[in-house]
Amino acid sequence: MKAVGTFFAVIFFITWNNVQPAVVLIEPRMYIQKIAKRVVELLESRYLTGPDLPIDNYTSPIELSSYGITISGNVSFHSAFVAKIGSMELNMQQYREALLSTEVQIDATMQWRNVATAMDFYADLDGFQGSGTLMVTYGHFDLPLKTKRIFETGEVSGSLLFQSISSINDIIIVGHPNNAHVQMMARAITTNFDFRDKMLEPFRRWNFLNILNVALSEIPFPEICYNC
Ligand SMILES: *[C@@H]1O[C@H](CO)[C@@H](O)[C@H](O)[C@H]1NC(C)=O
Ligand SMILES: *[C@@H]1O[C@H](CO)[C@@H](O)[C@H](O)[C@H]1NC(C)=O
Repeated sequence: MKAVGTFFAVIFFITWNNVQPAVVLIEPRMYIQKIAKRVVELLESRYLTGPDLPIDNYTSPIELSSYGITISGNVSFHSAFVAKIGSMELNMQQYREALLSTEVQIDATMQWRNVATAMDFYADLDGFQGSGTLMVTYGHFDLPLKTKRIFETGEVSGSLLFQSISSINDIIIVGHPNNAHVQMMARAITTNFDFRDKMLEPFRRWNFLNILNVALSEIPFPEICYNC
């Protein structure tokens, strides 16, 4: 009985397949993986700690009170740079493809792990003025990688932008000098939303369009099979 059921299931599958041939992309996953690999190569060879990952100077008010210490005032950050990116890989769990009537889209998300930024600061707080350095290491960055081709023009385009950090618990901060005020500043970065958000703002302005366009021009967009 079971064998018969399987037999009919197979027949049904073949029949159904013949009746409704699918329109599919040919190896779209491989495509987005190749694009990501090329982007990483280009980033590693030319861009990693260069001016293409700029972090602007900025000043942020800070207000934090706990365990008997209050810090209140302004902190300005300057001369910040990306010191190291532990690894860059593509997360295929967030893979998505969409075959629409006018265009086709293939997306996944790049993940950068252990992104270390270094910066100098000047703190102008009630009861403390001083300068120092901070090394802020983010556990991971999410950067959606999107590609698309418009049928009518054949034009291929894409985007790769910083979206978010994984979680506030995923930040490690080492401050120098290691005193109570600097420790409280480090605490503010991990626990104070406004303060932390200011630190993330420059990453949202990073633009990888120039390198992404190199990869998009080198690697052909997947063909479509209209009857597979
Ligand atoms: C922080 O900066 C703002 C704007 O420049 C200023 O109004 C404020 O007085 C400063 N706070 C302290 C504590 O210096
Ligand atoms: C940022 O601050 C540093 C140190 O004060 C300075 O040398 C640099 O020119 C500033 N950069 C910008 C873009 O203002």
